[in-house]
Amino acid sequence: MCPQTDFDKPFGLSDNSQVQVELPGDRGYPIHIGAGLIDRAAEMIRDKLGERRCLVVTDTTVQRFYGQRVQEQLTQAGLVRDDILVMPTGEQTKNFSYLSFVLDNLFMKNIDRKTVLVALGGGVIGDLTGFVAAIALRGLDFVQIPTTLLSQVDSAVGGKTGINSPRGKNLVGAFHQPRLVIIDVDTLKTLPAREVKAGYAEIVKYGLLGNASFFRWLETNGPQITAGKAAKQEIQVQAIRTSCAMKAHYVAQDERDNAQRALLNLGHTFAHAFETLSNYDGSLLHGEAVAIGLVKAFQLSHRLGFCPEADVARVQAHIKAMGLPTSIQGRGWPLEALISTMFNDKKVMDGELTFILVKGIGEAFIESKIPTEHVRAVLEMP
Ligand code: NAD
Ligand code: GLY
Repeated sequence: MCPQTDFDKPFGLSDNSQVQVELPGDRGYPIHIGAGLIDRAAEMIRDKLGERRCLVVTDTTVQRFYGQRVQEQLTQAGLVRDDILVMPTGEQTKNFSYLSFVLDNLFMKNIDRKTVLVALGGGVIGDLTGFVAAIALRGLDFVQIPTTLLSQVDSAVGGKTGINSPRGKNLVGAFHQPRLVIIDVDTLKTLPAREVKAGYAEIVKYGLLGNASFFRWLETNGPQITAGKAAKQEIQVQAIRTSCAMKAHYVAQDERDNAQRALLNLGHTFAHAFETLSNYDGSLLHGEAVAIGLVKAFQLSHRLGFCPEADVARVQAHIKAMGLPTSIQGRGWPLEALISTMFNDKKVMDGELTFILVKGIGEAFIESKIPTEHVRAVLEMP
């Protein structure tokens, strides 16, 4: 049970820790959130999907911590025939070569249309596995067991799946919803501190885009979420639950990202360009790029006259206090390369740069035709 707070009410949360993504037909699904859930994964999958062959996709690190535990349960429950694919860790795995590698292996293992893929890992594994599920045999069911904070609050929910192109982030993909999401906060105990902080940036994003009282709560409780083994699990569950409920709310309104769902991309036009320029080499994690992108979105909104300076300062102060980067100074990325990368963003319409801007904390909106000189100016700001 979780207490209901003023910041949960607008998003339809009651006092239990399950969130439902409300979509038509069989595209709706539950998100279970709590401690110890990974040891009940097989039972939850069988309850939801019946006795089906499951094939787990994971990465080498997650395999070391959790692969065997999940595999054994699935085997005991009769849901798996010794099937696990272990990918290299890191963003580079979200590419055409590994897409082809996974597909090839699935066909060698004689999967059929009733096979369920289980994505066990962070956003890289979730996005890649989800995309494979979308296209193999014209569509397989899949389950998300996200094990990073970032994937628990964002990528495992909403059905955006895909891989990167050498021309930019997430340019190849499909909408394909999971049938079930199982979030176990115990997995955060093994996650490196830098990854936990990166995931926290996506939690802050929800407060900033549409929930000022959640942001206020985070200003006090943020450190309890990212404190590693000393973190307070009930605070983590609360933050994840609110984040998932907000994501579910926008996804239910606009599943295919034609309107309001774009608000979830606050900071991301900047972030995707930073990641592309960093060449996905591990020097800048997705969540770190988002942290800088959030500050840039607030600075741009202020520069264009939409947002008070005090809100920019508050956002910058919180992100910095949480140990996340707030500017690109010292990275050495040419401004023109960043701008031209932004023109490859999926939000560019009719050749015009479109950004998610804010009128203040918790009040995001979509604005197109942003002149590039303003974007250039905020990129140079500290
Ligand atoms: P990730 O999947 O690369 O995981 C980060 C690292 O943590 C990896 O090295 C992984 O092996 C390790 N790891 C995972 N779980 C662990 C655990 N419990 N203990 C120890 N180590 C663990 O990165 P991520 O931050 O989870 O995801 C980033 C990706 O998500 C990006 O590709 C981004 O584009 C994508 N994303 C997608 C969406 C979406 O809607 N589909 C939304 C946001 C981000
Ligand atoms: N991560 C943004 C979205 O899912 O729409």
